[in-house]
Amino acid sequence: MDLVIRNACLRGKDGLWDIAVENKKFAAILPKILGNGKKEIDAQGNLMLPPFGDPHLHLDAVLCSGEPRYNMSGGLLEGIQIWGERKKYHNKEMIRHNALEVIKWEVAHGVLHIRGHLDATDPHLLGLETLLEIKDQVKDIVNLQLSAFPQDGIFTNPNGAAQLEKCLKMGADCVGGAPHLEMTYLDGVRDIQFVFDLAEKYDRIVDIHVDETADGNSRFIEYMCKEAVSRGMEGLVSASHITAMDQYNNDYAFKIIGNLKRADINVITNPTSNSACENRLEGYPKHRALARVNDLLERGVNVTIANDSVMNPWHILGQSNLLHTANLLAHYGHMNGFTQIKKMIDMITYNSAKTFLIQDDYGIDVGKNADFIVLDAKNEIDAVRLCSECLYVVKEGKIIVETIPAKRSLHFREDVELVDMKIKPYPSKVKF
Ligand code: FE2
Repeated sequence: MDLVIRNACLRGKDGLWDIAVENKKFAAILPKILGNGKKEIDAQGNLMLPPFGDPHLHLDAVLCSGEPRYNMSGGLLEGIQIWGERKKYHNKEMIRHNALEVIKWEVAHGVLHIRGHLDATDPHLLGLETLLEIKDQVKDIVNLQLSAFPQDGIFTNPNGAAQLEKCLKMGADCVGGAPHLEMTYLDGVRDIQFVFDLAEKYDRIVDIHVDETADGNSRFIEYMCKEAVSRGMEGLVSASHITAMDQYNNDYAFKIIGNLKRADINVITNPTSNSACENRLEGYPKHRALARVNDLLERGVNVTIANDSVMNPWHILGQSNLLHTANLLAHYGHMNGFTQIKKMIDMITYNSAKTFLIQDDYGIDVGKNADFIVLDAKNEIDAVRLCSECLYVVKEGKIIVETIPAKRSLHFREDVELVDMKIKPYPSKVKF
C-alpha cells in the first residue's frame, strides 16, 4: 500500500475508517486495515472528503485591488470601470505572479479543480495566454479549466465576437457570455445564441455570466435553458450568478427552475461578490441579490458555490476559502438549517464535480482517483462553522499540502489551556 489513512470520518458512514491507496487509486475502505502503508496519515477522527472544486474564479484579476485605484462604492459597475483601467497596463508577468499565488491559496484550502474565467475583451488576451501557459505548470497540484469571458460584452464591444472565437482557437476549454451587459435586450439574446454556436462549432462546454444584476427584468436565463435543450447540450452548460432571480415573482421563478432542471444546467452561485456588489442602488427595504439556492436544490437543480473574486476591483476582501464562502451562503442565502448547512459540503464537492464533468473518477470509493482532503473538523457543521483548515490535501495519492492549525493558549487563573472553538463532551456526571 502506497498510503494508508487511519481513523477517518467519512460522510454517510458510521464509525471511523481506514483507507488504503495503491497506484494513485483508492484500493480499500475498511474499519481496520492490517499492515502498514509506505506512508501513513492519522486523521484522528476528522472528516475526510473528496477535494473541493471552484468553478468560478477570475484568475486574471486576482490580487490587484487598488491598482490603479480602490473601489470606493463597493459596487459592480465601479469595479468594471476600474478593471477597464487596469487592463490597459497589466502584463503577463503581473498576471502570472498573482494567478499562481491564488492558485496556491485555493489548493491549500482543498481545491483541486478550478475553472478560471479570463477576460476575452482584453485586446491582447493576456489573461488567457498567461493561464494557458500556467495550466501545464500546475497540473500536478490542480486541474485548471479555462473559460473565455466577454467582460465588456460580445456585441457591445466592437471586436467582441472575433475576440471570443479567437479564445477558443487558442485553447479555452469553455465559452462564456454576458447577455445582461449588452446594450440591448436583443443583443443579449444574440450573445447567448453566439456562445452556443461557438460551443457547437469548437466542441466546448458553456458557462455564461447571466442575469448578474438586481434588475428583475433581466431574464436571459430562459434563453439559456432553451438553447441547452434544443441543441441537446443538457449537462454541458453552467449558468453563473443569476442574481436577478431574487427579484422574480414566484410563478416565473419556478418556471425557470423547472427549465433549469430540464436543461440540466449547473448553477454557480458566488455569494461573496454577489452579497457585496449587487443591489447598491436600491433603498430600504433592500432585497438580497442571489440565485434562489435552496429552491433550486430542493427541485433537483445542481448548484455549486464559487469564490469568484479575490482582492480585485470588485471585491477588496477574499481569501480563496470555499468553506468561508459556504459559511456566507448559509447566512446570506437563508440556508442555516441543520440539513441545509450539510448541503454546503455537497455543493463544493459532488455538485462541483458534476459541473466540472469529472464525476466518473471523483469520490472516496474503491477504484476512484485518490484525491482527497482531511479537514480539521469532525463533521460537516463544524467544517462550515469554523471554515476549517485542510490538515491534508492529497492528489493522486501524493500529499501536496500539510497544515498545522494555530494553537491558542488561554492563561486563566493558575491554568493554561488550549482554546480551539471545538465542542468538548460534558463530563459524564452531567445528565440531559
Ligand atoms: Fe464572474
